[in-house]
Amino acid sequence: MTEPKKLFIKTYGCQMNVYDSERMAEALAGSGGQGYVTTDRADDADMILLNTCHIREKAAEKVYSELGRFKGLKAEKPDLKIGVAGCVAQAEGEEIMRRQPLVDLVVGPQSYHRLPELEAKARSGEKALDTDFPEEDKFEKLKRRPKSARGPTAFLTVQEGCDKFCAFCVVPYTRGAEVSRPADRILTEARDLVERGVREITLLGQNVNAYHGAGPDGDMTLAQLIWALDKIDGLERIRFTTSHPNDMTDDLIAAHGECDKLMPYLHLPVQAGSDRILKRMNRSHTAESYLRLIERIRAARPDILMSGDFIVGFPEETEEDFQATLDLVEEVRYGYAYSFKYSPRPGTPAAERAHVDPAEADDRLQRLQALITRDQRAIQNEMVGREVSVLFEKPGRLDGQMVGKSEYLHAVHVQDAQARIGEIAKVRIVDSGPNSLAGERV
Ligand code: SAH
Ligand code: SF4
Ligand code: F3S
Repeated sequence: MTEPKKLFIKTYGCQMNVYDSERMAEALAGSGGQGYVTTDRADDADMILLNTCHIREKAAEKVYSELGRFKGLKAEKPDLKIGVAGCVAQAEGEEIMRRQPLVDLVVGPQSYHRLPELEAKARSGEKALDTDFPEEDKFEKLKRRPKSARGPTAFLTVQEGCDKFCAFCVVPYTRGAEVSRPADRILTEARDLVERGVREITLLGQNVNAYHGAGPDGDMTLAQLIWALDKIDGLERIRFTTSHPNDMTDDLIAAHGECDKLMPYLHLPVQAGSDRILKRMNRSHTAESYLRLIERIRAARPDILMSGDFIVGFPEETEEDFQATLDLVEEVRYGYAYSFKYSPRPGTPAAERAHVDPAEADDRLQRLQALITRDQRAIQNEMVGREVSVLFEKPGRLDGQMVGKSEYLHAVHVQDAQARIGEIAKVRIVDSGPNSLAGERV
């Protein structure tokens, strides 16, 4: 028997890329696929695939420096194939081929089901490029690996693309228009994951709460999909990300109060606290409407932990605008929040506007991050003495230690030699560190 070919995938960007990488590895795997097994070493691979992110300039530039590093490998191993997938592939496919001759294959996010053909083309010595937006359902056409056991948590993409066109964002261009997967396919995939050992599923979409996939009686909302998933025995936890404030429907808010499997954590990016800037961002909500929305969510589920995204130094942002962002953060008290310095992206409307002085933007980013960290630490510290439920995911660094996530997505370390991966345990929090909590089984 010949040795199977080895595939090394490096994933950048959001959780949707993590899900896609898993599906691409399956599509290129054993029987029916191209016969690849995955490896975690690039220097051992017959094919290297970078699954890239275009969201900020730094993320995109990283791809070219990473590719440059494979020059030596390719010289040693002429049969090595190098591919670029993901959002940089979509946005700059032809340029990648031009700028970096060692790239054999470029595939955009909507063409992954064509990966086996593209791989065969690249193997035969031709350059393979596909950045189409085909109509067919790629996830249905992507081959699945035969059933195998897997870890207790999984991502499941239910919706892709975005029609919102925020003035700073490349996603509507790299991922295309908003499309929802049919509910029965999602439910089948979820049941399959549960049979393989999954206890927690995070539903993914660039605008996951805009979900409107076909169901048995017409289109379903995300809340209806969550209630259908709630009926799957063995599935214990449901999460979803990323949501847009304008798509937080009443039934979804109610589900946070009524569905026990839906975890009390919500990532709901607002981006800025100034209405003038929100308008320039084309966000179509105000700071006030966002705050009132959170009030309603907290009325349904008082202990919900809020998370968000912020952009500082958006074109024309003044100190006063930035102050409004700080005020909003003070008011919400986020358990987690991610803040980014505005990065002008080619082809987006905001890129043409007057930019904020970079030193000023850096200073604002630091001030915002200090405030976010303060709240994050305080909320973590308030967990001490409380009882939470922890889904054990992997052994910790110490002997007999297990690490898992609480319902609030805090990492929790538990010293317990009996604990099993995939088990959900009641745990009392006894200590709070910079990035995780320590607990004892109750
Ligand atoms: N669909 C989600 C998030 C998409 S990208 C939403 O609607 O919020 C993830 C985050 O990256 C965004 O929330 C935003 O905060 C940040 N981001 C997007 N484009 C950016 C840019 N050009 N510069 C800096 N940050 C950006
Ligand atoms: Fe980007 Fe805005 Fe769409 Fe989110 S809602 S993916 S930030 S365009
Ligand atoms: Fe990046 Fe594309 Fe995700 S740009 S954040 S990988 S949708």
